[in-house]
Amino acid sequence: MKKITIIGTGYVGLVTGACLAEKGNRVTCLDIDTEKVDSLKAGKIPFYEPGLEELVQRNVAAGRLHFTGDYNEAIPGTDVCFLALPTPCNEDGSCNTSYILKAATQLAENLDNDLIVVNKSTVPVGTAEDVERTIQSSLKTRGVEIRFEMVSNPEFLREGSAVSDCMNPDRILLGIHSQKAELVMRELYTPFSVDHDRILVMDVFSAELAKYASNAMLATRLSFMNNLALFCEKVGADIQQVRKAMGADQRIGDKYLKAGIGFGGSCLPKDVKALKAMGALKSHSMPILDSVLEINQGQQETFFQKIEGRLEPLEGKTIAIWGLSFKPDTDDLREAPALFLIEKLLNAGASLRLFDPIAMPKAKLLLNQYDQVLFCEDEYEAAKEADAIILATEWNQFQFIDFEKIGALMQNKTLFDGRNQYQKSEMQKLGFDYFCIGTPKEATPLSSAYAPTQ
Ligand code: UGA
Repeated sequence: MKKITIIGTGYVGLVTGACLAEKGNRVTCLDIDTEKVDSLKAGKIPFYEPGLEELVQRNVAAGRLHFTGDYNEAIPGTDVCFLALPTPCNEDGSCNTSYILKAATQLAENLDNDLIVVNKSTVPVGTAEDVERTIQSSLKTRGVEIRFEMVSNPEFLREGSAVSDCMNPDRILLGIHSQKAELVMRELYTPFSVDHDRILVMDVFSAELAKYASNAMLATRLSFMNNLALFCEKVGADIQQVRKAMGADQRIGDKYLKAGIGFGGSCLPKDVKALKAMGALKSHSMPILDSVLEINQGQQETFFQKIEGRLEPLEGKTIAIWGLSFKPDTDDLREAPALFLIEKLLNAGASLRLFDPIAMPKAKLLLNQYDQVLFCEDEYEAAKEADAIILATEWNQFQFIDFEKIGALMQNKTLFDGRNQYQKSEMQKLGFDYFCIGTPKEATPLSSAYAPTQ
């Protein structure tokens, strides 16, 4: 059993800490936000993540998981210390590692034994070396000799399925210098890798880059599909059918091919920008990343134009928005496409009726100051007297809608499906004017697909 300290209790830190405790380790989660620490001690999780609250409560009750705001309480005696700090974007898109380096200094100021320091945050190539230098310099100032080793162990969990991703990872990536550190890390992660070996050991630089490369590849697939979806609309093809055909090819695979209103969240947009900035530092251009970002921004804009084109003028119109978080099963609103649409619609003078199954409290904090925004109890209340509904996030409950009831509540039966969740033919049968992504509004006869436009 290892004594583990995790610095930072965001999605990555808290989920990692709780999962390591679940596997029998003694884990202390450390955060400088004392309010957060107090609420965690009381068993309250500061964000919505399925299964996490039960996991935390169970491990706190079993005495394996602890929370503190005090470095001096957490660090002494630690065998493995994970750094799971935020790495936000600087203004130029590059990654800001200042939280990590500050935590590294505080860690060094409280160290009293040899240990392994593991970087779990998403950081530019070379950051493990920066952390190493920071700790060394602080130990030198203290005049103490403590041996430590740096490991890079990027995280691949997704919000909304973070606990199961962490408990059943596709791969566990370890960037490592020495055999000794490899032994310790393998021991720690073997319980997560029992069915078949998921542990990949490599050099530190490659591990650091692999994390960015993975997120950038996911974002590239999405932007490719989103761009193709708009082309489908022009030539009379259906992106859903095209996706099925592509995904059936095992070399391509069927994941991350769903077109929509653009990707959001705290990772994909930020990491694509950071990888681009890393390239710029080495005078290496990565034009594909520019396109990925440009297409993503354009996707949201094009969807807004579709709405504006149908409802013009937007001024005085009432619009319901179903789903606010950047994807289902999370209350995270960072870079959520819904927020982009809300801003554009409010600027154009529309009134909004908003509903999200989980993200309402966070949405109220952000949008409370707008008179034209009404926060609704459910999707039916949101639809009342609306000129249109926008489906912005595909929460499961939006798949079981009584559309006859919804239609009767609305002023005009218009539906903009930003996630391709409904069948066009069924919605049209119910009398809805239905718009989605990547399917032509009207069936275009094949022969006319390439006909010159007038
Ligand atoms: C992403 C990665 O998937 C994780 O592997 C990674 O660990 C994490 O970032 C991170 O770096 O911490 P996450 O940001 O939680 O995870 O979100 P995803 O589930 O990847 O979704 C990203 C966006 O893509 C969402 O806006 C989602 O709606 C969109 N998406 C996803 C699509 O539009 N279509 C799809 O087919 C899949």
